[in-house]
Amino acid sequence: LSSYFGTQQHHGIRSRLDWCYDIEDLRRIAKRRLPKGIFQFVDGGTEDWIARDRNREAFERLRLRTRALVDMSDRDLGTELFGSRIELPLGISPTGVAGLCWLHGELALAKAAAKAGIPFTLATGSITSMETVAQAGGRLWFQLYLWEERNLSYEMVDRAASLGYEALVVTVDQALGYLPNHNDRNGFSFPFRPNARALTQMLRKPRWLVNVLLRTILATGTPKNLNYPPQYQRMVTWRNDAPKPRWPQDMTWADIDRLRERWPGRLIVKGVLDAHDARLAVEHGADAVIVSNHGGRTMDSAITTIEVLPEVVAEVGDRTTVILDSGIRRGSDMVKALALGADMVMVGRPTLYGLAAKGQDGADKAIGILALEFERYLGYLGCRHVGELGPEIFARPSV
Ligand SMILES: Cc1cc2nc3c(=O)[nH]c(=O)nc-3n(C[C@H](O)[C@H](O)[C@H](O)COP(=O)(O)O)c2cc1C
Repeated sequence: LSSYFGTQQHHGIRSRLDWCYDIEDLRRIAKRRLPKGIFQFVDGGTEDWIARDRNREAFERLRLRTRALVDMSDRDLGTELFGSRIELPLGISPTGVAGLCWLHGELALAKAAAKAGIPFTLATGSITSMETVAQAGGRLWFQLYLWEERNLSYEMVDRAASLGYEALVVTVDQALGYLPNHNDRNGFSFPFRPNARALTQMLRKPRWLVNVLLRTILATGTPKNLNYPPQYQRMVTWRNDAPKPRWPQDMTWADIDRLRERWPGRLIVKGVLDAHDARLAVEHGADAVIVSNHGGRTMDSAITTIEVLPEVVAEVGDRTTVILDSGIRRGSDMVKALALGADMVMVGRPTLYGLAAKGQDGADKAIGILALEFERYLGYLGCRHVGELGPEIFARPSV
């Protein structure tokens, strides 16, 4: 396991990653390396950041029983997803700013995922293009924010299809965009308008300025949303009326039908927090739902995903693939979600922290840490493979 998932210690001089024992250690390095506004863009939640923290508390509240003296010499961490094997029931969620955490950050994340044998999701608003990321190989998914100008969205969908992306992940919980928040206060909202506050924060991190921003500018010019059509690609602008795609106020399940007709691969609906919506997603042709509260970034009063998971599983678990994200930081969180019926989980910030700490090596490390903890927990619980995880592992049989 350790050599496969990159958790092995290097000989000779220890690198900063060798001193990282959990995701929080990677987070601390990310905080040191990134300008404050970018770190908070990654790390923060919406409004008062309550949903973000509750996501953690909800997992922490659940306690487990150990099962002793089960032969654990032959444990398998892998599982089936859409009819073929993944090496770990984990995937990487779409996160728009990976390219501001590391040079070609999305490509580095995709390579880390391919190396670990797990899926990677490229965000609509990523800085590295879907064409470049396609070079990483592995199981690639493309996340879509639908725009008011549907035809421009469909062009991106068709591009992803022709590049062979396995799944289209349609995010349905952000249709209205973000509320004004700490990112505006920090001067780090997008498109980015140069301002003294943000520039001062960047100057305080000269290594980031050179290794990430300058090298990105040398490679591709000022950071751009390279998946967008040319008129919307600009991420940096002096104008406050720069053209940008508008969120549709009228997005409905009929849009999912149209995407289903158009998209030849797997269709995944991301941002479901309600059993009824999960059923509608299946009825409208989704192959999977992602139970997600967007990492606590959309609505601060949102229910946590582990709380709502059992209802969703009861409604559609026998008919579709159920995926969970938002708050996974430990292998123990992974076993809890799987025991309550999720088929796999995904992470947004953990691999971004790793990426900001040390590029692909850091993302490998984040996956490795989760894999090691997950393997150990399976063992503690007397389970040799993920199919053996069930609600009986909890201290009380229900949440
Ligand atoms: C910096 C950042 C950017 C994100 N951008 C997107 C995005 O463009 N599209 C999307 O569907 N979700 C986006 N998300 C949400 C993630 O896909 C995922 O749902 C969330 O991060 C999971 O929670 P976790 O970070 O606690 O693992 C973003 C999350 C972060 C942290």
